[in-house]
Amino acid sequence: MAEAGSFAERVKQQADIVRVIGEYVRLKKTGQNFTGLCPFHQEKTPSFAVHPTRQIYHCFGCGAGGDVFKFVMELDKITFPEAVRAVAEKCGIAIPRPRERSPEERRENQQRSALVEMHRETAAYFARQLHDSPEGKIATAYLEDRGLNRDAMTRFGLGWAPSSGDALLRQLKAKYPEKLLDISGLFSRDQSGRPYDRFRRRIIFPIANEGGKVVAFGGRVMGDEQPKYLNSPETPIYSKSNVLYHLDHAREAIRQNDFAILVEGYMDAIAVARSGVANVVASCGTSLAEPQIKLLSRFTHRVIVNYDPDTAGQAATERSLTLLLEREFDVRVLTLPGGADPDRFLKEQGAEAYRKLLAQSSPYLDYLIGQARQMDRSTAAGKLAALNYLMPYVQRLPNKLLRSEWATRIASELRVDEPVLREALRRAAAERRSEVKPQTQLLAPVRPAERRLMQMLVEAEGFRQKLAREIVSNGLHRGLETERIFEVLVARVGGPVDVATLANALEERDRRTLFEVLFETSAEATWEEAESCLGVLRTRPVEQELAELQKKIEAKASAEELTRLLARRLELQRMLARR
Ligand code: UTP
Ligand code: MN
Repeated sequence: MAEAGSFAERVKQQADIVRVIGEYVRLKKTGQNFTGLCPFHQEKTPSFAVHPTRQIYHCFGCGAGGDVFKFVMELDKITFPEAVRAVAEKCGIAIPRPRERSPEERRENQQRSALVEMHRETAAYFARQLHDSPEGKIATAYLEDRGLNRDAMTRFGLGWAPSSGDALLRQLKAKYPEKLLDISGLFSRDQSGRPYDRFRRRIIFPIANEGGKVVAFGGRVMGDEQPKYLNSPETPIYSKSNVLYHLDHAREAIRQNDFAILVEGYMDAIAVARSGVANVVASCGTSLAEPQIKLLSRFTHRVIVNYDPDTAGQAATERSLTLLLEREFDVRVLTLPGGADPDRFLKEQGAEAYRKLLAQSSPYLDYLIGQARQMDRSTAAGKLAALNYLMPYVQRLPNKLLRSEWATRIASELRVDEPVLREALRRAAAERRSEVKPQTQLLAPVRPAERRLMQMLVEAEGFRQKLAREIVSNGLHRGLETERIFEVLVARVGGPVDVATLANALEERDRRTLFEVLFETSAEATWEEAESCLGVLRTRPVEQELAELQKKIEAKASAEELTRLLARRLELQRMLARR
């Protein structure tokens, strides 16, 4: 392909893939990437993405991907030399085209930084009001009554928005232009056009993005007024469906434990985190949105859904299950007894009882069958209704074998005749959306720690080489599904990476995995985070050996062998405990 120093390489270096592809596909800027409808397969919602800095494209639907030349070759059905010429012509080869930030982009960035700063200041202001003002005393008493001490209030940054209509406004208006205050979501205007504080007389829960920056607030009344919680509106720095409450504090614990607990509310997340279970996040409001799942999938693919046991909570659980299944999450459900939400349950029954139930939470199939069983199944119509309730979930299982297992299980649990069930299944299969990603589903999910390490090997200028040495010298990538990708990546840490060239050394399926990972946006990596990801790889062989040992021990070896096995088990357990 594009060899060093060749004409092709010069063209590639100077061509802008966004511009070239933009002539064929209508691209829209989304975050750091551009997306649009894939030209290689039929689709109605965009799953095609272009990475402006890496100069690659990738379709999350059909799996097509490569560099600018491959795009033109495949779409125009031309040869490589022809593609090089075509791209050169399109771009005017003599003119280097580094991607400059437009003045508009620069202005938007500045605006976002100012809003973040404003929110930081506001959070500090609300916290001072809680801790130091006379009104704040009442709020503190309310929170204490709900089981929170001062430490907890500080730890979660809680605050108090004063009753006076413009306390915050007076605080901020000297420092920020009116335009910025207007779009911050912190103020409203009355009929005469006068601005006033959006949050008044409310307990304040700061909402941070996954990087720990406060981007919005939720405010709770102390009495019975409505709404119970008032939240920030959508702003340039906050989109409700893109944020999970408490993720900034939970992300490391989620990665380490490789699962997350999902609750509904602010108070639930706080209560669970305080009980010593750090890997909890709240969807804030009833149902989980698609971007929130995507966000979570950067840290884990396993979730325990612990929503309120009321009807709204159950409906939200089921909606969330559907979305999580589509994204191939491993899902369990915990429904707490006595109609309690996690906050109330913890207050009444304590941390130990909660952790015990958490460990016993059921796989979602059991949860769903439990729900179906509560329906009236004495008539044929009732049975059909129960079946129809379960079918959409079966339908979403990407794995055929799993679908068949479910069918057997459902037939016996609901005492449904096999033919009735098969018919329902067949119908369900026929109705499967034609757009389910046929290719990506063949790929085994790669663990978040591995994904993050791959990104770092490409992008973390500061410590790519150190990271590669650490992986190679300890053979941490050996035996992983992604072993080959790591091999190729660590071999290139000496200089800048051209991922499209690098991909030539990979099989198609590994190339897809790598491209997908590189399209995941992420904050700048730190060595600390790298260490945490390496930690996940280091424990793997130990855990595998432990599992093997356990099987042998249960298979009842000879007395002599048993002693040896038990000693080894103890040794391994100690190794894990030391981490
Ligand atoms: P809940 O009504 O279950 O509140 O709503 P909660 O978390 O148990 O709060 P407490 O214990 O009564 O104080 C769950 C979540 O839904 C969102 C909030 O994020 C809340 O934490 N919500 C609820 C709103 O945004 N607005 C509302 O009016 C109510
Ligand atoms: Mn609740």
